[in-house]
Amino acid sequence: MKTENHRVLIIDDERPILMTLEALLQRHGYQVDTAPNASQGLKLLKTKSHALVLLDLQLPDGDGLETLDRIKTELPDLPVIILTAHDSLHNAIESMKRGAYHFISKPYATEELLSLIEKALEKQFLLREAAQLREKTEQLEKRLEIARAQPTPIFKSKPMREIEELIDAMAPSDANVLVVGESGVGKEVIANMIHARSRRAKKPMVKLNCAAFPQTMIEGELFGYVKGAFTGAVNDFAGMIAAADGGTLFLDEISDMPADLQTRLLRVLQEHEYRHLGSTEILKADFRVIASTNRPIAQALSENRLRSDLYYRLNTFQIEMPPLRERKEDIPPLIALFLRQFSQQLGKPEPDIAPEAFQKLLDYAWPGNVRELQNAIEYAVVLARQGLIGVKELPAEIQLPTALQQTGRGAPARTGVQSLDDVERNTILQALAECHGNKKKAAELLGIQRPTLYNKMKRYAIEI
Ligand SMILES: Nc1ncnc2c1ncn2[C@@H]1O[C@H](COP(=O)(O)OP(=O)(O)OP(=O)(O)O)[C@@H](O)[C@H]1O
Ligand SMILES: [Mg+2]
Repeated sequence: MKTENHRVLIIDDERPILMTLEALLQRHGYQVDTAPNASQGLKLLKTKSHALVLLDLQLPDGDGLETLDRIKTELPDLPVIILTAHDSLHNAIESMKRGAYHFISKPYATEELLSLIEKALEKQFLLREAAQLREKTEQLEKRLEIARAQPTPIFKSKPMREIEELIDAMAPSDANVLVVGESGVGKEVIANMIHARSRRAKKPMVKLNCAAFPQTMIEGELFGYVKGAFTGAVNDFAGMIAAADGGTLFLDEISDMPADLQTRLLRVLQEHEYRHLGSTEILKADFRVIASTNRPIAQALSENRLRSDLYYRLNTFQIEMPPLRERKEDIPPLIALFLRQFSQQLGKPEPDIAPEAFQKLLDYAWPGNVRELQNAIEYAVVLARQGLIGVKELPAEIQLPTALQQTGRGAPARTGVQSLDDVERNTILQALAECHGNKKKAAELLGIQRPTLYNKMKRYAIEI
């Protein structure tokens, strides 16, 4: 790879180091800018386009890690190599977690530094090339309206096989389904499967992402409107309920739907009727709901993000997707699937994975679940050399020793002490959830009389 045209920025307060480095890099064909402190460095990054930054962690005007954060926020793709004065391994590891390409401790060996820079630039080049290629393919697919064939999902582990059995049993019915699970775990995959195996498969599955949509617009999107119903309603719009007619409505991140809309949706589900905004005409609603949320249900209920009455209506079947770290058996077949997928996409022969790298992939906790694994494999396929993926070709986070890695969501975070009322309310909600809304059973489970439960439900505004 040619080094000319590559502009490198060095941020270091020790002038002799700055000068030696500048001379060294210039001799090897780089264009070099230097800055003795963070603020000048950041200013230079704004005015010129750099291919790489060498950043000292001890700077006179602030913390090097903070400077790294700022660089990564503004220019997330720009590779940064950290220079550490002492063998401060802790900071070096922290900097890799925050997105640095690598670190090198001073005094550094010239050869080592040069090869590190070259590798970082090469990686950058490959990643950019892959992104461009992907964009081209996507544009082509869009223009030709080629739907990318969805590979068959992996259901190898025991919990996933059980989920597939449940799907096969209930997909043909019209029962509503709630899919719960951490981000990236495959909730949309499940929704697609249920729809595809239902008697509604020939009709559309319409998706509304309640988290991604501006809250004020969800109502109109969902119910449709007539021209003039509100400012901005310049045309009639049929809405998603109409679009899903005879098919399935997938409500992604249902706990982000405004509360009053949840109530209105519940009414539509009960009455099978609805109206466009601004119209009095009553329309028939024929759709099945599959809803998803990545918040734990008890939490969504206790924070009033999910209305309990809607919850009981949607919860005819609840599918709890286990996080990937709890079903490691799925990891190898998922790796195989993604290896095939990405090498085809990149037009590369399928690489092998070195045993140590494979072990890293198995040991990692995957807080971002299947999506994170998919991204990691794409990254590794892009970087694979001579048909092999080694530990070095894995994302930095996965290369770290297990003890230093994030452990995934685990137990929901508790902030401080809850009030006794909150504890009581949550316990009641949990009991009701466990008994599927059956108050008699819930009262028994809680060890209280039914009237007492009714009183408490009233007091905490719990509705079923
Ligand atoms: N069992 C599986 N087999 C193959 N691919 C899967 C599987 N589960 C998930 N994936 C892939 O992982 C990615 C994330 O899945 P999906 O979008 O369904 O997750 P999600 O739970 O809806 O995530 P989020 O909470 O972020 O919306 C998708 O690209 C999907 O194709
Ligand atoms: Mg999703």
